[in-house]
Amino acid sequence: MRHLNFQHFLPDKIRVGTQKLRATLIFTAMYVLTPNLRKEIIDWKTCIDRTPRPFTLYLKQHFGDKPLVGAEIGFGFGFNALNLLEELNVERLYCIDPLKPYVTKFGQYEGKYLNKATSLFPILSKDSRLCFVKLESDEAFDSNEIPHDLDFVYVDGLHTTEQVYKDLLNSFNHVKVGGVVGGHDFTRDFQDSVLPAVFKVSAETGLIPTIEMPDFWFVKTGDCCLEQVPRKNFSQAGGRGLNRI
Ligand SMILES: C[S@@+](CC[C@H](N)C(=O)[O-])C[C@H]1O[C@@H](n2cnc3c(N)ncnc32)[C@H](O)[C@@H]1O
Repeated sequence: MRHLNFQHFLPDKIRVGTQKLRATLIFTAMYVLTPNLRKEIIDWKTCIDRTPRPFTLYLKQHFGDKPLVGAEIGFGFGFNALNLLEELNVERLYCIDPLKPYVTKFGQYEGKYLNKATSLFPILSKDSRLCFVKLESDEAFDSNEIPHDLDFVYVDGLHTTEQVYKDLLNSFNHVKVGGVVGGHDFTRDFQDSVLPAVFKVSAETGLIPTIEMPDFWFVKTGDCCLEQVPRKNFSQAGGRGLNRI
């Protein structure tokens, strides 16, 4: 017998509302009734947050113990910044993040990163190796705050195709030859945004990215064709061409 789902007869607004309410009730019940499971989930989440990403492990292999100056676009809760500081011989890490509300395909993020008790900002801002640049990435690169001889940049800010593309090109222009430009979320969730930007940069620079999900990275060579790429205006830089790649 065909399963009859009454939800189909409800208007969208009510259906979504009841789904949210059910999810909240189930989550709250689980949270209260299963403290052990709750602890396990929190431990598991912390374990993932505190595991160095493939990009970081690659930097370790590529640079060894060399003192490094790098940047991360998108600080978030600061876990990746902390991992970079712990895993590598970082002399200086520029963390670029406006820390203000922004919109993603998963919803509106309020400026929660600064205020949440879980954010590592209060702790990390005391680390003298960390230089916090509280600007959007475009503004940060346009200012004179970011040096042009960085060893690496990790792009994990605003995940639109246009912004990831701009962030990658700006990063290439701020990294020395032999340096590494990479980023996060080369995944299915971002196949319409991060992936096309990475492929476009690859096609334009002639560099082949290494993909180790959820990360990707390029090593900047002396002969990559950066000078051919217009930097400021995304649409002039072939925004429409993205679908072709
Ligand atoms: C996914 S979180 C970063 C997570 C962090 N990299 C980590 O792995 O721990 C994305 C961050 O990008 C920041 N962001 C949004 N728009 C930005 C922009 N235009 N420039 C720089 N950062 C931006 C947000 O404030 C947010 O903190």
